[in-house]
Amino acid sequence: MKIENSRKDAFHAPEKAYEALPVLEREEAPLSPQDRLGAMAGPLLSWYDSHARSLPWRDSPNPYQVWISEIMLQQTRVEAVKPYFNRFMEELPDVNALAQAEDQRLLKLWEGLGYYNRARNLKKAAQIMVNDYQGCLPDSYEELLKLPGIGSYTAGAIASIAWDIPVPAVDGNVLRVISRVLASWDDILNQGVKRRMEASLKEIMPKDRPGIFNQALFEIGAMVCVPNGRPKCGECPLSSLCLGRKQGLLDSIPVKTPKKPRKVEERTVLLLLEGDRVAIEKRPDQGLLASLYQFPNVEGKLEEADVRALLTSWGAGISQVEPAGEAKHVFSHVEWHMTGYRVVLSGLPKESYLFVQKQELTEKYPIPNAFLAYRNVINGES
Ligand code: ADE
Repeated sequence: MKIENSRKDAFHAPEKAYEALPVLEREEAPLSPQDRLGAMAGPLLSWYDSHARSLPWRDSPNPYQVWISEIMLQQTRVEAVKPYFNRFMEELPDVNALAQAEDQRLLKLWEGLGYYNRARNLKKAAQIMVNDYQGCLPDSYEELLKLPGIGSYTAGAIASIAWDIPVPAVDGNVLRVISRVLASWDDILNQGVKRRMEASLKEIMPKDRPGIFNQALFEIGAMVCVPNGRPKCGECPLSSLCLGRKQGLLDSIPVKTPKKPRKVEERTVLLLLEGDRVAIEKRPDQGLLASLYQFPNVEGKLEEADVRALLTSWGAGISQVEPAGEAKHVFSHVEWHMTGYRVVLSGLPKESYLFVQKQELTEKYPIPNAFLAYRNVINGES
């Protein structure tokens, strides 16, 4: 009896120890980062199949639409892109139309999206497609990469979504999601980190649905593992795989090393009114906001008396000068802090400004967002 009991105890003891251990061991089974990435694909695709949003460029896209939407999506959020995309497709529905678009019209279609060189590169690339690719988008990742304005992200998105080629498309959203899943402390602004992530994703992405895999990652980044605010881990198909979540690191990852502080420039913006017309000028063809239109503006923060003196030195007659508010615009490397004045003229300055109707300001001339606050001052008057 005694022996039996002790045998029973001996039998039970290890069983209890075994019960306590495996929970820990199974949860923390050390998956390699690559295996962890590989394990993502299944849950990610199933989730996308039932959660993907219907978007204008998603439901039955052609390669041209994929391209234009991907470039626009680098500028801003999906909801903000929709009206731009629809208007662009109505006016420039294919590569040929884009290749022949007037610069001013193209910039007007892009007005408000920012980074206007992206619009200019679209047209240059379209012209190359007309000359060298029978008016079509090239159907290889390497050929896409040769075109102006197309880097590894855009080439990957077009190649995978439009042509089913298994290449990744790593943007800021994807970098955030994957860094969190792997609990990686790498700086996601570092190009080497991006290259390594592209190489790792290329190995594990499903070869039969590469475009869906990439879009599912974008969608998780936009809808669940969001850029601002708390990630919605309760809704995430990757939460059981996510080391960042398990280790409580979602507030610290992804890591982005702070950029150098931007240079601040003070400027004074002049809204020069002559009857129902207002003065604008075209910016130089090179540099910041190249070829866009702006209200006359000068360096520095002028007082009302300085504005009067300046306009007088330009030979202008002045009936009235009043403040038109302060505005700030942030570019990638510089910030403009602007002080505006509304000036009613009684005589034109010798500077060769273009005096346009307020309506033309909205419909014809591309005016960058930096001047939006002042365009609203003018439009508010009509
Ligand atoms: N972000 C980048 N590309 C996207 C796409 N194709 N759909 C939704 N969001 C995106």
